[in-house]
Amino acid sequence: MATLTFPIFFLMAILPFSEGYLTYIAARLPLKGFRAAPGAPWPMPKEWTNFTEQFTVDPKTFSIVHDVDCDILVAAEKRYQDLLFGKQSGRKTPSLKQVEKLHITSGKCEKYPSIDSNESYVLKVSPGIALLESSAVWGALRGLETFSQLLYIDSNNEFKINATIIVDSPRFQHRGLMLDTARHYLAVDTILANLDAMAYNKFNVFHWHIVDDQSFPYVSEEFPALSRKGAYGPNLVYTKGDIRKIIEYARLRGIRVIPEFDTPGHTQSWGRALKDFLTPCYGDGKNPGTANYTSHAEFEIVNPILNSTYDVIHKLFSEVKKDFPDQYLHLGMDEAYRACWATNPEIKNFMTSNGFGSNFTLLEHLSTKIIIWHDPVDNGAEVGNDTIVQIWKDSSFDPNKFKPGHEYLSKVVKKGYKTIFSACWYLNYISYGQDWRKRYECEPLDFAGSEDDHSRVIGGEACIWAEYVDETNLLSRLWPRASAVAERLWSPRHVKDIDSAAFRLDQQRCRMLRRGIPAEPILNGYCEQVDWKADTNPAVSAAESTKATKPCFAFFIVTVYIYSQ
Ligand SMILES: *[C@@H]1O[C@H](CO)[C@@H](O)[C@H](O)[C@H]1NC(C)=O
Ligand SMILES: *[C@@H]1O[C@H](CO)[C@@H](O)[C@H](O)[C@H]1NC(C)=O
Ligand SMILES: *[C@@H]1O[C@H](CO)[C@@H](O)[C@H](O)[C@H]1NC(C)=O
Ligand SMILES: *[C@@H]1O[C@H](CO)[C@@H](O)[C@H](O)[C@H]1NC(C)=O
Ligand SMILES: *[C@@H]1O[C@H](CO)[C@@H](O)[C@H](O)[C@H]1NC(C)=O
Ligand SMILES: *[C@@H]1O[C@H](CO)[C@@H](O)[C@H](O)[C@H]1NC(C)=O
Ligand SMILES: *[C@@H]1O[C@H](CO)[C@@H](O)[C@H](O)[C@H]1NC(C)=O
Repeated sequence: MATLTFPIFFLMAILPFSEGYLTYIAARLPLKGFRAAPGAPWPMPKEWTNFTEQFTVDPKTFSIVHDVDCDILVAAEKRYQDLLFGKQSGRKTPSLKQVEKLHITSGKCEKYPSIDSNESYVLKVSPGIALLESSAVWGALRGLETFSQLLYIDSNNEFKINATIIVDSPRFQHRGLMLDTARHYLAVDTILANLDAMAYNKFNVFHWHIVDDQSFPYVSEEFPALSRKGAYGPNLVYTKGDIRKIIEYARLRGIRVIPEFDTPGHTQSWGRALKDFLTPCYGDGKNPGTANYTSHAEFEIVNPILNSTYDVIHKLFSEVKKDFPDQYLHLGMDEAYRACWATNPEIKNFMTSNGFGSNFTLLEHLSTKIIIWHDPVDNGAEVGNDTIVQIWKDSSFDPNKFKPGHEYLSKVVKKGYKTIFSACWYLNYISYGQDWRKRYECEPLDFAGSEDDHSRVIGGEACIWAEYVDETNLLSRLWPRASAVAERLWSPRHVKDIDSAAFRLDQQRCRMLRRGIPAEPILNGYCEQVDWKADTNPAVSAAESTKATKPCFAFFIVTVYIYSQ
């Protein structure tokens, strides 16, 4: 077999389209959709009035000013001064009128974001002073992000921004992203980088699934053995200092941090330190602490009949409440497989005499607002009427076991609970091609219901379970796929032209690359002006071997192999 290799300049069939910012390669089929001009925002604002008049910005003299005393704004100004001009060596266009300042007027400076944060803002880009107005600091943060996206650098290396008026507010108040730090540990720096990416996409809740069966990285003062015995290693933990750092970083970006301590299932790692916390299963029918795979392990679910169990829960959750300022705690309550309980004679007696059927709950006596996964409600239990219920089950995971996600959602809102939708946004599931598209097309309110029913859907969350995710792939697996969820949750319902969205999303992807997030590609082509340096990214610098190089597409060489016998 002989192999012959030769280059062809293939410009006839593959046409590069420079958009001044991105260069697209349409191979074989023309690209569909409207190509966003440079400086198109993501997620799409509620009202975006764009003009063709262009102004310039001088990176040497431009300033952001504000007229309320607010530490969040002071930090944001510093951050955005960097994000606007960053490592780009651009300059002003001498012939254009200049935007000299961005003036922020924002009413309330609140300390922490909450479920009631007002994130609306109005942004007017005009020569001289551009204006950003919001009723609270949270809107100012969202508006600053938008302003930073409107600015672009052209092929002459000059900064430009078009005349623009934006009136914006989110469609849903809860726009979350869930990370799982139990299947694999994630370094604090990676979590911080992810908070940055969340802010670039206007997410406002970091749902931290911090512990699970596999490991217990939360360092408790009350029960130090939990992480000493339950974490993967002495350094693979989150100390009080780490948690404070993460919460502060998130706060400055208008992001709430809600920890999840999943009970009564998903608690195997707790048992390594706490004797008696877990129910002994009778896997062989006779002896406590014996497994019956695949029904259950030796010990795996909370033991509800010992007072010590409630004591642990009460003390630990009181400590957690002190660490996390948010009004809400996530208590999990998913997949509490009762097979083990059913084998244990004492538990069987207890369940019978206490009238506990399917509704065992550890919620009592906690002075916090609560989020849970929908399993208990789905099983017919009643939970506090102000509990927020997160919907996860979906037939796409296993059509034999589950119904479509919207069926669960509809059932739960019709019982009167507020809900968060996640069923179609499990980003740990991946597939070939433009995998973001089906995330984008998923519409939470796509079920028959009254206006009241629909109003009880307060938002959604993208979730990335970490069985196959760690430092090496978290950020590139999430971004820009999670951006698709971000636009669905922020932008008006009518924003759904997916082919056109692809071009804005690609801009957003390049923007994230430029800002150090190793977001994966979605279209063929390349980002101009991206000086992608792997060592600016914590997740990538951890794995030297994955260092990215600057793509070079000066010309296209197609290598043709001719095989002959
Ligand atoms: C201007 O804004 C509208 C939305 O208001 C958008 O559909 C359109 O694509 C924008 N124009 C450009 C050139 O990006
Ligand atoms: C900005 O102005 C330029 C030049 O007039 C125009 O080509 C482009 O479409 C405008 N961008 C937007 C988003 O309207
Ligand atoms: C947020 O503030 C704006 C401007 O003051 C107001 O119009 C809007 O109703 C507020 N939104 C919410 C959800 O309170
Ligand atoms: C082990 O579990 C299986 C089903 O999951 C069950 O049929 C079997 O009876 C169990 N064994 C014992 C000893 O309980
Ligand atoms: C558990 O607590 C209850 C109520 O406080 C008490 O009546 C009971 O005696 C306790 N049981 C044990 C075994 O300590
Ligand atoms: C739990 O279920 C039992 C019987 O199914 C019922 O009598 C009881 O009221 C329920 N308790 C709660 C708190 O829902
Ligand atoms: C929730 O239940 C409490 C009492 O348990 C009641 O006072 C309140 O009105 C209920 N709220 C709703 C929205 O049903």
